Amino acid sequence: MAEVDTASLKAILVSSTSIGHLVQTVARELDQHDLFYGHGTDNPDDEAYSLVFAALDIAFDDAEACWDQLPEADGIEKVAGLLSQRINERVPLPYLTGIAWFAGLPFHIDRRALIPRSPIAQLLEQGYSPWLQPQGAPRVLDMCTGNGCIGIATAAYMEDAKVDIADISASALALARENVALHELEDRIEVIESDLFGALQGRQYDLIVSNPPYVPHDSMLKLPSEYSHEPVMALEADDEGMAIVDKILRQSSRFLKENGILVVEVGEIQQAVEKRYNETPFTWLEFERGGEGVFLLNRADLPEPG
Ligand SMILES: C[S@@+](CC[C@H](N)C(=O)[O-])C[C@H]1O[C@@H](n2cnc3c(N)ncnc32)[C@H](O)[C@@H]1O
Repeated sequence: MAEVDTASLKAILVSSTSIGHLVQTVARELDQHDLFYGHGTDNPDDEAYSLVFAALDIAFDDAEACWDQLPEADGIEKVAGLLSQRINERVPLPYLTGIAWFAGLPFHIDRRALIPRSPIAQLLEQGYSPWLQPQGAPRVLDMCTGNGCIGIATAAYMEDAKVDIADISASALALARENVALHELEDRIEVIESDLFGALQGRQYDLIVSNPPYVPHDSMLKLPSEYSHEPVMALEADDEGMAIVDKILRQSSRFLKENGILVVEVGEIQQAVEKRYNETPFTWLEFERGGEGVFLLNRADLPEPG
């Protein structure tokens, strides 16, 4: 469907008789355009709900209380502005609102980092049980941390964990620091600028967890427009998507304690990883709320260091 300007959207939205009605109208507008969902929500109804509540600055917990209230004119204006950017520029909603939810927790997000969406959220919510069995307080590394979501949520769910979060991107780490402060976890999280393990020499972890870049170049060309707003270095990897995963597989053993484990999301290159490492006994994790392409390995089962 053709582009739509903010004034026309406002004219449509202004007839909403309640906040609930506004949500429905926004959902209908979203649905009429060929948008991609997958940056925090997976359908127009949830996206409309998130968009309206962020624009009106209403907490989700207050949804019931305000559902029948009449939206104010400046609120409708804000909704129309966000909706216009979402539809016309295909900007993923979290980049418009500045908020991303991950493992039930809020995070600051902007174009400095990938929008959090890894199924690893479901694993950390259960403390990586039953696989992580540290002796004492767990030492964790979130490699390729982006806005910090996996490492920070891990520290939030596991109250005795000490977590290093590492990334090559100084700007992503600036955002990650904001999120560490948001969750008041400065005393248990260290933020480290590092090209993979380069700045981590001598450190030893019970768990290394990572959602690294793994999208092959050919796949990048086919991604929906929404992905074009995310940093290329957060998505694409050389060698048909394998370049970073390869190094993590080959270098992790030096940084894991004897009973340590490695958890890595590899998404669409799962089969390529299995093929290249056909003697490595990967455990491919299953997720109740959906998601796949995440493997787990014990240190002893890692491929030869390289
Ligand atoms: C897929 S994003 C994941 C971000 C975050 N972990 C998440 O799940 O939302 C991958 C991240 O890897 C970082 N990265 C890319 N190459 C890297 C490297 N050589 N060393 C460390 N981090 C790297 C990117 O800057 C980006 O933040």
